[in-house]
Order: sequence, then structure tokens, then C-alpha cells
Amino acid sequence: MTTNKTVRLAQRPKGPVKPEDFDIREEDLADPGEGEIRVRNAFVSLDPAMRGWMNEGKSYVPPVGIGDVMRGFAAGQVEASRHPGFKEGDTVTGLLGVQNYAISDGKGVSLADTSLAPLQTWVGGLGMPGLTAYFGLLKVAEAKEGDTVVVSAASGAVGQVVGQIANIIGCRSVGIAGGPEKCDFIKSEFGFDAAVDYKAGNLFGDLKTACPDGIDVDFENVGGDIFDTVLAQMNPFGRIAVCGLISMYNATELPPGPKNLRNVLVMRLRMQGFIVFDFIKHNQEAMTALGGWYKDGKLKFKEDIRDGGVEAFPAVLSELYTGGNFGKLILKL
Ligand SMILES: NC(=O)c1ccc[n+]([C@@H]2O[C@H](COP(=O)([O-])OP(=O)(O)OC[C@H]3O[C@@H](n4cnc5c(N)ncnc54)[C@H](OP(=O)(O)O)[C@@H]3O)[C@@H](O)[C@H]2O)c1
Repeated sequence: MTTNKTVRLAQRPKGPVKPEDFDIREEDLADPGEGEIRVRNAFVSLDPAMRGWMNEGKSYVPPVGIGDVMRGFAAGQVEASRHPGFKEGDTVTGLLGVQNYAISDGKGVSLADTSLAPLQTWVGGLGMPGLTAYFGLLKVAEAKEGDTVVVSAASGAVGQVVGQIANIIGCRSVGIAGGPEKCDFIKSEFGFDAAVDYKAGNLFGDLKTACPDGIDVDFENVGGDIFDTVLAQMNPFGRIAVCGLISMYNATELPPGPKNLRNVLVMRLRMQGFIVFDFIKHNQEAMTALGGWYKDGKLKFKEDIRDGGVEAFPAVLSELYTGGNFGKLILKL
């Protein structure tokens, strides 16, 4: 018998999450049954979507049930296996939950090759966020050489990969981020062609300077005023991949709709939302590309790894919605 420490959803949060929304406790964990593995989680991915998963209502996945272990991507090591596809010592990643140990039947769990990248990177640039960037930019927005690509939350897990892939395929990459430190970093470390600090107070003008020929692709991670401002500067037949709307995730009332929707009409824009799982059949193609670029040094990842174990989950998760993270936010267990 193993002692596990879990984060269970105690109630549905209203607005930003609070510690009392979760029940963090020790509990006994049974040994893996036939066809199962026990994974010792080492890193848990903190993702903006977690806030949405806590809400009641129709979405692309059912909400986390009250009393259930909080859904989350994690990476760890197989400690015990009764599954033919995994052996003790394998490093793996998947939806293993916010807990120290997971029992899994192996569905959705894949091997994490630590000879290519450190284990935590498999929940970041070589995990779900990297796949999201790849699919959103190339399959949804259909970015092509010569396009000006704008991405919001540009220093974050998804945004940093979007900008770098845009560069790799010959686009002009423009990132929108909060504050001079993040803006300088995405230019110097990730090679963005331009960065716009939305907190500097002149978003429309600064974006216009950064995109002198207008915007062909918007990779939208934020929504709200940022999206509205980008919408106003889109070129004819531009494409908008709606990846996320983080500025709204903690809202307790519906925010106002976009003011510049008219541009969708007059510029004949195509706007499409997507979820990374929509492209699961292309995962191998994406992983080959991402892994190859990473190996060749064309793709870099900034990770923001926090200590504190599962107890720190509510406080660290909250930082995503205030820009407290700088890079892919990961909790070390
Ligand atoms: N569709 C999918 O399948 C899919 C998959 C993964 C992620 N996503 C979405 O992609 C987006 C980015 O996710 P991520 O994991 O890469 O997170 P992240 O960018 O690493 O972290 C979130 C960042 O969002 C920015 N932000 C937060 N609140 C904001 C606000 N009110 N206004 C402006 N910016 C704000 C902050 O950056 P600044 O400091 O720069 O403001 C913060 O660092 C999210 O919307 C997420 O839901 C979608």
C-alpha cells in the first residue's frame, strides 16, 4: 500500500480559485491491478484550462466532479507495472492528475524520452502546449511564409512556441506580453521580430508599429481588449486561431463582446476555435517536428518551475491569471 497525496475539488470556485475550493489530503493508494501502472508524478503542469475544467456546464470535456482528483497533465516515473506497454523505471507523461501518485490503465500515457529533453519539458514545449502551438498555427491558422503572425501571452507556454515556429517557417513574429522583461526576453531568447507590451498604455499604436504591413494571422490566447485591438489591424483574408481567452476565465459576469467584429466581415476574416485534442491523429507528425527543431537548437523553452508540492497547487495556479508566471508554469512534486 502506498500513501498518496491528492488535490481534490471540494467546491466549484467563483471567480479566482481559493484554497478552500480544494481538499488536499493524504490517502491510501491500492497497488496497480492487471493492465495498470503506478506512476510517481514528478512534475504537474499548471494550465489555464484547469480553471474552466472546474466549472459546471457544457464544454469540450466534462467538468471535474466534486470530490474528484483535479485533472492535470503530469510527468513521472513508472514505479510498478502490470501493463505490457510499460516497465518499471519508464518515464512517462499524460493526464495523471494533481497528486503524488497515479494509477493508470495506460490510456493517453506516453513515454517521455529523457535523453532528448528533461522530464518536465514533456508537459511543456514537447507536451500539450507545444502541440497546441503547432496545430493552432499550422493547421488552424494555416500560417505560411511571409505572413505577419501576432500571438498574445507570447512569453507563456504556448505563445513562446508559436513565435518560434512562425520564425522557422519564415513569418514575421510579433508577440504581445505584459511588461518590458517578458518583451525583451521573447526577442532576445526566442527571436521574435517584435514585441508589444500591452501594459505600456499604447497597445493600438505599438502594435501598428510592430506590424507595419498589417496582421495576417492572429494566434489568440487572451481575448478581451487585446483581441479587439488585433482584430482592428487584420489584413484581408486573415486567419484567427482562437486558442484561449484567458482574460475571461475568472470572470463572474459575461464580458462585453468584441467591438471590432465588423472587421471579420469587411476583411473577410476566418476565425476558428480549436482544442489541441482535435488533432490527435497528427500528434506523431507534430512531435517529430517539435522534437527535431528542439534537437537542432531551433526551438527553446522557458520553464517556470515551482516548489511546494501539491499543497502549493491553488496558489501557484492563480499566478497564471495575473501573469505571475514567466514561461511554462510547472509544479515540482
Ligand atoms: N485550445 C487549446 O487546446 C489550448 C491548449 C493549451 C492552452 N490553451 C490556451 O492558451 C492560452 C495560453 O496558455 P498557456 O498554457 O501558454 O499559459 P501561459 O501563457 O504560460 O500563462 C498565461 C499568461 O496569460 C497572460 N494573461 C493572463 N491573464 C491575462 C489578462 N487578463 N490579460 C492579458 N494577458 C493575460 C499572462 O501573460 P502576460 O504576463 O504576458 O500578461 C500569463 O503569463 C490560454 O488561453 C489557454 O487556455 C488552449
